[in-house]
Amino acid sequence: MGDIILEARHINKYFHDPVDVKVLSDINLIIKKGEFVAVTGKSGCGKSTLLYILSTMDTDYSGELLIEDVTMNNKTEPELARIRNEKIGFVFQFHYLLNEFTVLHNVMLPGLKLNKYPAAEVEHMAMEKLNMLGIGQLAIKKANQLSGGEKQRVAIARALINNPCIIMGDEPTGNLDKKNSEIVFNIFYELASQQKQALLIVTHDEEFAARTQRTIKMEDGKIYLI
Ligand SMILES: Nc1ncnc2c1ncn2[C@@H]1O[C@H](COP(=O)(O)OP(=O)(O)OP(=O)(O)O)[C@@H](O)[C@H]1O
Ligand SMILES: [Mg+2]
Repeated sequence: MGDIILEARHINKYFHDPVDVKVLSDINLIIKKGEFVAVTGKSGCGKSTLLYILSTMDTDYSGELLIEDVTMNNKTEPELARIRNEKIGFVFQFHYLLNEFTVLHNVMLPGLKLNKYPAAEVEHMAMEKLNMLGIGQLAIKKANQLSGGEKQRVAIARALINNPCIIMGDEPTGNLDKKNSEIVFNIFYELASQQKQALLIVTHDEEFAARTQRTIKMEDGKIYLI
């Protein structure tokens, strides 16, 4: 049991606007420590909707979500915000870095927000993450002075700053060329195999998905293969 990082039990989700539509139907899944899992499926099948629920950002659903064996169902929003910041790293297709801040500051932000370590310690940890991703030399640059591939690596460093037990990605390589997608894949692979972090990555890239450990396939709001 101690190896289960995330568990979804019978999750259903409706959107009500303009009419009631069921977008997720009886989703059950388990993600274990160190697993590298892809989520695939046609546009509109519910992948992003599912990721928003699994990452605790959307709480408007029925069913149960557990993170490290703790139910998320009766948590308040401030409690969820803290759990998100501490346990979940998120990487989007577009990086959402703050352009006016340095790379180092961008990576430090979730660590400062967590308020667990003093700023100097957070800065040290941020430099460690940047060095691990091979972009330590970019630390003092402004985010808008970077290439797309570099920005995405900074976004990954930022997602890692609080040493989350799970990293979720919504098309994290969707905006990258083949070479940079490969770099991101390799980073994810090492995070899973060496740091034992779990990865749950939504992707349209079949090649990327085929090289992960396991692919969750979705169709019309249902999982049809785990
Ligand atoms: N806020 C919303 N209100 C109503 N319907 C929504 C809302 N957000 C998404 N939907 C609908 O829910 C379904 C699932 O959307 P979702 O964004 O999860 O798809 P997806 O699998 O991530 O697609 P893509 O691969 O294009 O990103 C779609 O039919 C979409 O139109
Ligand atoms: Mg989507």
